[in-house]
Amino acid sequence: MTAPTPLIAGNWKMNGTAAALGEAKAIAEGAAGAAGRVAICPPAVLIHRMAEALAGSSVLVGGQDAHWEDAGAFTGDTSAEMLADAGAKLVILGHSERRDGYRETDDIVAAKTRAALRAGVEPIVCVGETLAQRKAGEALAVVTGQVRGSLPAELAGQAFSVAYEPVWAIGTGLTPTMPEIEEVHRAIRATLVEQFDDHGKTAPILYGGSVKPGNAAEILHADEVGGALVGGASLKAEDFLGIIRAL
Ligand code: 13P
Repeated sequence: MTAPTPLIAGNWKMNGTAAALGEAKAIAEGAAGAAGRVAICPPAVLIHRMAEALAGSSVLVGGQDAHWEDAGAFTGDTSAEMLADAGAKLVILGHSERRDGYRETDDIVAAKTRAALRAGVEPIVCVGETLAQRKAGEALAVVTGQVRGSLPAELAGQAFSVAYEPVWAIGTGLTPTMPEIEEVHRAIRATLVEQFDDHGKTAPILYGGSVKPGNAAEILHADEVGGALVGGASLKAEDFLGIIRAL
């Protein structure tokens, strides 16, 4: 069984206008020859322009969310098919900012994941516990429950990744200890193998939450960590490249 190919994905969240395309180009130039796949997930309206700006580079462009339907009367939403049409190759689904802020349940995330597969866009499915859940000793149960509920059977044989993002580590500068990260990543791996047999061994499990150039090497070399989903530190080429080079 081949080891998962690592993936470093930048989640720009609601940051970035056309003025930021230069930063994306600097990332693409610096990431040539990276020891894994690199992606930038800008706001949806920037995907097409970024995909054009990065054409010919190895850096992929991704979305941050997609609707579970392919088209229809859903004001303000974007379908996975539209993301693909704009040039997105990947899409982040079930980020905690969507689970919390927009009440996305595991069922909704699973439906969105099916939509991404229909559109040929590779899903990055996010899971993660809150601080209260961790303090209550529920982290593993919460995370493995989200993996079971958010990853549909249709993922069998398809390219996808899971991102473990402890909610309390996002944008806070706090990170779990390495044993805590490894414990959760191993539990996710075991759950993936339960769900998808051998195919469950090949999906990278990304870590996300306050990944910076200074802590990237330690995190990226931890057991069962197959890359990173990076928020704040992906907005500046220098910082993001520092993380990519730690692979
Ligand atoms: P930060 O890297 O800013 O903590 O954000 C992590 C995240 O939410 C990536 O999806």
